Amino acid sequence: MVKIWAQESADWRFVMERGGDSAPMSLRAVGPDRALVMNLGADATAETARRGAAKAVRTVRELGAQSLLLDVTGIKQALGADGLAAAVQGAELACYQQESWKEREDRPFALYVAGTEGMDAEAVLRETDAVTRAVCFARDLTNRPGNLLTPDMMAQAMAQAAQRAGVEAEILDESRTRALGMGAFHAVGDSAAHPPRLIVLRWKGGAADAAPMALVGKGVCFDTGGYNLKSGAGIKTMRSDMAGAAAVCAAVLALAENKVPVNVTAVIPAVENRLSPDSMVAGDVVRSMSGRTIQINNTDAEGRLVLADAVTYAIEKENAAQVVDVATLTGACVAALGHLTAGLVSNSDELCAAFLRAAAQAGEQYWRFPTFPEYRKMIDSPVADLCNQSSDGCGAITAGLFVGAFAGDTPWVHVDIAGTAWVDRPRREYQCAGATGAGVTTLYRLCAGLARP
Ligand code: BES
Ligand code: ZN
Ligand code: ZN
Repeated sequence: MVKIWAQESADWRFVMERGGDSAPMSLRAVGPDRALVMNLGADATAETARRGAAKAVRTVRELGAQSLLLDVTGIKQALGADGLAAAVQGAELACYQQESWKEREDRPFALYVAGTEGMDAEAVLRETDAVTRAVCFARDLTNRPGNLLTPDMMAQAMAQAAQRAGVEAEILDESRTRALGMGAFHAVGDSAAHPPRLIVLRWKGGAADAAPMALVGKGVCFDTGGYNLKSGAGIKTMRSDMAGAAAVCAAVLALAENKVPVNVTAVIPAVENRLSPDSMVAGDVVRSMSGRTIQINNTDAEGRLVLADAVTYAIEKENAAQVVDVATLTGACVAALGHLTAGLVSNSDELCAAFLRAAAQAGEQYWRFPTFPEYRKMIDSPVADLCNQSSDGCGAITAGLFVGAFAGDTPWVHVDIAGTAWVDRPRREYQCAGATGAGVTTLYRLCAGLARP
């Protein structure tokens, strides 16, 4: 997509206004001069602008247009740079087209932006474009069929993108992860013919001696459930079980593209959860990298196993000062919060508050779960230090607390995107069916905020 911020000819002109009493998000097509006027309502926010611009792009594309001039004069007055960034992100995301393996027509679309006088629009547009392309990269990886994205293929795709962006990439193969004692990671990874990988991406934009923020992403390239096999309906979209991995990778790429002065390391345990003659079964006890033992109650609770060792790796080997893990972890989170809100579990009010501030800027919704002491006891095991499934309900919380047990005192936030990473039916104007790229923009804002406290 081409963006120019001088006024140019375009198929449609799109004017976003705030105020007035017409219904928010209403679109009016006017004129022979082909203008769309959108009244965002008196209480418009950056998110309204994001959704409004997406709706405008969708509308004019349906009318056959190949370009749109976005006049942000009104948005600029009402919402400043945040409004401009949000509108451009919405417009760009609405153009996203899923990868396809059949012949189809490519539909290029140009977005022009006018009305930016008096602000450093070029900087805002460049930053927003890098973040939005990263969201689309995360969507592409997440949508990709499991047979075309094995752990090693994902490692290669991420390493290639990292190299282009100036991010250091290290891929640990199975002999190295085994030597590190990553028994929880291998309990899952050894279930598949395609071997597991631990992917480490280091963006070193900050001071050389500053300990990094670690972003740990669940990278289950396909989740069959293992011997606790999923149902036909449950297994259908499980190629998306690496959406957390895609999100943390994409956030690091965007930070690097924008040269944000901060140190951030993505740690991605990449595995498939499958069936093999000797893969784990219920009752097994495995030893994690931390030395703690885990009783497997359910082979479908595999995400927390690979995250446990990845969090330990991030703290012990990458010297992480804080940890955010992102995962499509539980159906329980979808049941609790649905598809528009992701769940948080955290041991740090401060880091959690920073995360929620970043989310508000990004236009994403999160809700923090409580962590009463009784919840932690639910994942005790009679024969091991922990078990991977409680039978006492509140599954999104106990899953989070399981991962948190490996973070120890390091400030940590767990983000369960099981409901938000994938939508069979779009819930926002800038979404389409399939992967959403959930988490990318919030993670980017969170890390960018560390650079400018
Ligand atoms: N990948 C799933 C969670 C999931 C469910 C993601 C629906 C997206 C949509 C995860 O590995 C899983 O199967 N979790 C189990 C845990 C249970 C066995 C303790 C679940 O939620 O049922
Ligand atoms: Zn599972
Ligand atoms: Zn899973």
